[in-house]
This record gives sequence, C-alpha cells and structure tokens, in this order.
Amino acid sequence: MAKVDSLRTLLVQQLRDIYGAEKRLTKAIPKLVKAASSEDLSTALESHLGETDEHVSRLEQAFQSLGEPARGKECKGIKGIIEEGDEHVGEDFADDGLRDATIIGAAQRVEHYEIAAYGTAIAHARLLKLDQVVRLLEESFEEEKAADEKLTAIAEQVVNSDAANAEGDDAQEEPEMVGAGVLSGSKSSQAAKRGSTGGNGGRSAGGSRGPGRKSSSAKRGR
Ligand SMILES: [Fe+2]
Repeated sequence: MAKVDSLRTLLVQQLRDIYGAEKRLTKAIPKLVKAASSEDLSTALESHLGETDEHVSRLEQAFQSLGEPARGKECKGIKGIIEEGDEHVGEDFADDGLRDATIIGAAQRVEHYEIAAYGTAIAHARLLKLDQVVRLLEESFEEEKAADEKLTAIAEQVVNSDAANAEGDDAQEEPEMVGAGVLSGSKSSQAAKRGSTGGNGGRSAGGSRGPGRKSSSAKRGR
C-alpha cells in the first residue's frame, strides 16, 4: 500500500474507495429494486441506480483530471453495509410494507455512508484547489442527498396501518414513535390527504395497501 505522503495522495485513496463502493452498488441496487413492493420505491431505486452509473463515470473523470488511473479498491465499509442490508431484507416479513421499510433503511445507510465519503473528499479537493474534481464530486454529492430525502419521503407511505398497529408491542399507544413509516399505504390517498389538509406530512394511520404496489408476480421474480 502506498505511503500517504500528501493530502493529494489521501484524496486519491479516498476516490479509489468511493469508486469501489459505487461500482459495488451498481450490482447491489438491482437486488433491492427486485425485492421492493412499492412502485414508488422501486422507481426511486431504479432512478438512483442510473445516477450511480453516472457517479462511477464522474469518478473516472476525476481520476483523469488528477492524471491517475481509474482504479477502485475494495470498500469494506460499503461491503459490510450491503451485506447487512441483504441479510435484513431477506428476513421473513408479515407484510410487504415492512419489507419495503427495511429496504429503505438499508438504502439510507448506504446513502449516508456515501454522503460522508463525498463530503470529506470534496473538502480535501477544495483545500487542494482542484476545482474540476470538486465540481464532479459535488454533483454526485447532491444526488446522494436528494436520493436520501426521496427515500425519507417514501418511508412515510410504505407501511400500512395494519402493520403499524399490529402486535401488542409498544407501538400501539403512540404510533408516532414507530418511526417515519406509520402511514397510509396508498399513494393516491396520501395525495388526497395532503390536498385536503394543506399537507401535514401525511401523518395518519388510515388507509390500507393501495394501488402503488407492484404485483406479487412481478415482485417475486427472484
Ligand atoms: Fe447513492
């Protein structure tokens, strides 16, 4: 392993790590798409898969601008997050919404890792006045943040009221404490609710599994 003798060397090492992570994600995200039941969730994941391909290509441009070969190294952090996510998503769920909520949790762990990695690399590239590298990394950084926010919004619609209120656990008395997903399952009912209330974040336990679900035959192709 090369000696880290400068901030530039450190930056190149970080970019190799992120490059390895993004490439691994291009293979991991399709599995989440396949496992998702909510149309909104699978669409968001698919769209982020397209962005992830872009992130790979921007990193290649950053390497080029640095005069370095585009070489990734195994990112143990993302590998662990993906493995753990696969394990959680593969559990036995009583309800598709609960699986979707788990998929969102796994995907958001990935996004937060990437946001941290890009944030540090951008700060270092700025210190080195590598404007083109900064610009490339910032574009991907913004897309990671937007993907994370989108997932937060979807989390508010994937868990249906039955699942939110099921079992006698502590969830019953204070549904707000269950997390972001204690909500109506249907995209249309969400929209209707927002329209009629002026938008309260959709925090209601009404409604059931709505039309925004992939058919089970489409979903079970794995
Ligand atoms: Fe991402």
